[in-house]
Amino acid sequence: MSSKPEVGVGIVGYGLMGRAHAHGYTVAPHVRDLPCLPRLRVISGRNSEAVARAAARYGVEEWTADWREVVTRPDVQIVDVCTPPGTHAEIVEAAAAEGKAVLCEKPLAAEYAAAATAARVVADAGVPNAIGFNYRRLPALALMKRLIDEGHVGDILLWRSVWLSDEFLDPDIPFDWRFERAMGASTIADLGAHLIDLALWMVGEIVDVAAQSETFTPERSGRSVDVDEASSVLVRFADGARGTFEMARTCARRPCDFFVEVNGTGGTLRFDYPRLNELWYGDARDDDVFYGLRRIRAESPRHPYARDWWPIGQGLGYGVTFVNQAADHLERWPDGPWDPDLAQGARVQSICEAMERAAAEARWVGVREIDYAR
Ligand SMILES: NC(=O)c1ccc[n+]([C@@H]2O[C@H](COP(=O)([O-])OP(=O)(O)OC[C@H]3O[C@@H](n4cnc5c(N)ncnc54)[C@H](O)[C@@H]3O)[C@@H](O)[C@H]2O)c1
Repeated sequence: MSSKPEVGVGIVGYGLMGRAHAHGYTVAPHVRDLPCLPRLRVISGRNSEAVARAAARYGVEEWTADWREVVTRPDVQIVDVCTPPGTHAEIVEAAAAEGKAVLCEKPLAAEYAAAATAARVVADAGVPNAIGFNYRRLPALALMKRLIDEGHVGDILLWRSVWLSDEFLDPDIPFDWRFERAMGASTIADLGAHLIDLALWMVGEIVDVAAQSETFTPERSGRSVDVDEASSVLVRFADGARGTFEMARTCARRPCDFFVEVNGTGGTLRFDYPRLNELWYGDARDDDVFYGLRRIRAESPRHPYARDWWPIGQGLGYGVTFVNQAADHLERWPDGPWDPDLAQGARVQSICEAMERAAAEARWVGVREIDYAR
């Protein structure tokens, strides 16, 4: 028996993210020596039979069809929100009112006003809180951030980011929550939130955006679709750097393919998700005989997160982001702070909303317009 204190976790939502987060808490104590042990107390979902099956598979002790039970149980200290974006704010606020720590999947809400309120309520409650920007916990992306901070690309001139999937390509896919903006948010917010978070983290504040969006299949199952299926965006960063974002769910044979790249006065860094343990780096000071980008294996024990995992060369995958996320939070239990927090989730949401407005009104939009409209 361990003498470490237990921390009760309640997960709201048993779909893809409910499974990923349960995996994170289960494996975190195997890879990191934590001050406490997470205990998966309860998971909720609207379909009793399905949530019961999920609880058994994920190793969660109990299940319920009522998320309010998760946030009010005295044996739950962390509420982990894995439901569609349009439900997040209400659940997050209810959990904070009960004094629970909160981890919420991205995007924080379907629109900025709700995200800003949720972030403020949680901050006022003084509980540890975090938004699920899990890709920050991928060793190669954490290394990219470190190399930028250490000056290896010099001053950043350009940011380039693309996220492509084919999940909306088939016009016969029936309507579900992802096609309704009030519940699923936009594609800008759903896919783009990760890219925007990485850009803010690595480059800095975004001040102006211009965008275009398209919905190629405007009706599904007899219902109208108000979500953009593909958007592309130009941005200006506060420090003068320029950038581009493209997020599209209509790209045949492109499954969750994303890449990010920075070009600076001293070099280039590029990350490509299908090769997720690697970074490409070009140093402008290199002798011309080495001209080009070199491949870095982001698995050395000196690299971020890598020492927690397998010997160099064995490779890591998507699941490690959720394990590292859970381990980082539990390591700081009970005082926190957790990072990135919901305030950063709301900040990302303000940029999503600026991009949505820029596309709708076909003009450059200052992010300040969104902040001031609160
Ligand atoms: N970080 C990541 O890598 C990543 C990946 C996928 C999804 N997400 C985010 O996680 C959240 C959940 O996505 P998912 O893919 O797990 O969804 P999912 O459809 O697989 O699961 C949704 C869960 O929410 C519950 N639910 C509650 N209210 C609902 C409603 N009104 N409509 C539909 N379901 C409802 C369902 O019962 C189910 O348990 C979203 O915010 C999504 O953007 C994050």
